[in-house]
Amino acid sequence: MEIAFLLNGETRQVRIDDPTQSLLDWLRAEGLTGTKEGCNEGDCGACTVMVRDASGSRAVNACLTMMPQVAGKALRTVEGIAAPDGTLHPVQQAMIDHHGSQCGFCTPGFIVSMAAAHGKERTDYDDLLAGNLCRCTGYAPILRAAEAAATAPPAEWLCADAAFALTQRSPGGPGQTATAFLPETADALAEWYLAHPEATLIAGGTDVGLWVTKGLRDLPEVAFLDHCKDLTQIRETSEGFVIGAGVTIAALRAWAEGPHPALARLLRRFASEQVRQMATIGGNIANGSPIGDGPPALIAMGASLTLRRGKDRRVIPLEAFFLDYRKQDRRPGEFVEGVTLPKSAPELRCYKLSKRFDQDISSVCVCLNLTLKGSKIESARAAFGGMAGIPKRASNFEAALIGQPFTEESITAALPLLEQDFTPLSDMRASAAYRMNAAQAMALRYVRELSGLSVSVLEVSA
Ligand SMILES: Cc1cc2nc3c(=O)[nH]c(=O)nc-3n(C[C@H](O)[C@H](O)[C@H](O)COP(=O)(O)OP(=O)(O)OC[C@H]3O[C@@H](n4cnc5c(N)ncnc54)[C@H](O)[C@@H]3O)c2cc1C
Ligand code: FES
Ligand code: FES
Repeated sequence: MEIAFLLNGETRQVRIDDPTQSLLDWLRAEGLTGTKEGCNEGDCGACTVMVRDASGSRAVNACLTMMPQVAGKALRTVEGIAAPDGTLHPVQQAMIDHHGSQCGFCTPGFIVSMAAAHGKERTDYDDLLAGNLCRCTGYAPILRAAEAAATAPPAEWLCADAAFALTQRSPGGPGQTATAFLPETADALAEWYLAHPEATLIAGGTDVGLWVTKGLRDLPEVAFLDHCKDLTQIRETSEGFVIGAGVTIAALRAWAEGPHPALARLLRRFASEQVRQMATIGGNIANGSPIGDGPPALIAMGASLTLRRGKDRRVIPLEAFFLDYRKQDRRPGEFVEGVTLPKSAPELRCYKLSKRFDQDISSVCVCLNLTLKGSKIESARAAFGGMAGIPKRASNFEAALIGQPFTEESITAALPLLEQDFTPLSDMRASAAYRMNAAQAMALRYVRELSGLSVSVLEVSA
């Protein structure tokens, strides 16, 4: 397959023999070795590059990006961050001025993340730089550099990338080869997938990328979903909001700030800025991980899932999709088209427990949504991640709450029922006993938070 894209201001037309080749490997083979390989699994940010398309510019991990995913986009590596005449970008100069680099291995990734943030005039660096690890400088000088550069105007040579819009992403053909397909609509995807049910769908690739880089798996047939614009829409209907499967976690988080702030707060804890900019909600659901963060929250909200096979669609409650460990209710040739959320869920609260605050997978994720009639609990949805082989509702716990007064005593009395609902596993993240204790404590946290007490770990002080 041939793809075209803009690389550091120059149009490139490239032949791709292996559609799962990572952008990181390709860049380094091209001699653009400023982009570093650290972990090769999305955790360290040493490989951060900037990508721009119609939806704006963002920092992403080159190690998780497969070559067809850059087709038609504008790409900047650390070699392309300074101006063409060699003038340093404000963040580069600030890193020098504030001694933000020692061994320098992490520095290109930081520079690209900082330049992406600078271009968007964002200053929430604790969040934006959490996907970049530095082992020797320490973060204070790096954060000081980012803050110092914030007042400089956006770099005009990077803004010029916005004018690049390539209609012919794949000059060698219509985006299709024997082994890879780049559909532009959900209809095209549906037709192709019906004829190729064994193929692997790749949305953000933040799960699938690791199958290749760490699992060394060959994926004989793949379809890349990130060019299906209709899958990236959020629509309001009479029933609620329909979130397209291709909506990224970053886009979902930004949107949720309005109607679903508890979901937005949870998504702040999802991976890193780079991963959130690639990962999709459809991929998070379809991946079927028992420790994915999206499903417990969406199940607690009462979400329904739209599955599509050819022209046929069916809608099921999201919790019904998860049958058993890594086994979902998905037929050959069927894909996730979208998920429908209610217009509001004011009583929803989501608690994620992981070993680190940032960039870490949940040990336990607890999402509760109790509605009240007067002072009594009228309905209860309690969904847990990390407590079973699938994201799962606590049906015994929920049933015990209905009709009870909404008090700490009622919740405490129902907590032992969680032991009937779940038999958690012990693994490297947490022991079974720790998971059960933590889940019970987080259910109590819910009643305390809704009673007006401060429960956020960010507000804890000595
Ligand atoms: C460093 C790192 C940190 C992470 N942290 C978190 C975290 O904190 N919380 C969390 O929940 N996850 C986390 N993840 C996992 C991952 O980012 C999420 O599961 C993500 O939402 C997957 O979305 P994607 O679009 O990248 O999926 P992909 O990797 O493209 O696909 C995942 C699976 O879903 C299938 N698929 C994708 N789209 C569809 C569709 N529309 N229909 C049917 N099947 C489809 C694919 O075939 C594949 O089986 C992390 C991953 C990395 C690498
Ligand atoms: S090499 Fe570590 S995130 Fe890509
Ligand atoms: S400067 Fe050495 S890892 Fe950051």
